[in-house]
Amino acid sequence: MNCMRRKLAVLSLMILSVATTVQADGDAAAGEAKAHTCLGCHGVKHYVNTYPSYHVPRIAGQHEQYLVAALAAYRAKTRSHPTMQANAALLSDEDIADIAAWFALQGASD
Ligand code: HEC
Repeated sequence: MNCMRRKLAVLSLMILSVATTVQADGDAAAGEAKAHTCLGCHGVKHYVNTYPSYHVPRIAGQHEQYLVAALAAYRAKTRSHPTMQANAALLSDEDIADIAAWFALQGASD
């Protein structure tokens, strides 16, 4: 019974990740310009948020494929958060790949 439930959980995770997969061959240079609007909240410099009144996850230096998956999930509305869904809604697959490539390269020396 327990084992069955685990198998189901793994299976549904696999389906989720297939449904939200975007190819990660991003161009970090292009991503820098596209990431401009993100920095008001996900401030890269010193990781100080413009809006300290609520928690914003640190995404600089995050694994590229993780960022791609997160943004694709917000865009597909399989991950809930109204602000991020709105931010991701207008991004193309290429935008997501470029932005993820750029953020993944940030903060490495921190
Ligand atoms: C108005 C503020 C705001 C803006 C602008 C914004 N974000 Fe976010 N972002 C958030 C918040 C708040 C969360 C946490 C949401 C949650 O709990 O799921 C988040 C979560 C994320 C995550 C998931 C991080 C994790 O650890 O799982 C990613 C990736 C992300 N944002 C990328 C971006 C990108 C790329 C942009 C620009 C296109 C952007 N965000 C613009 C506020 C913002």
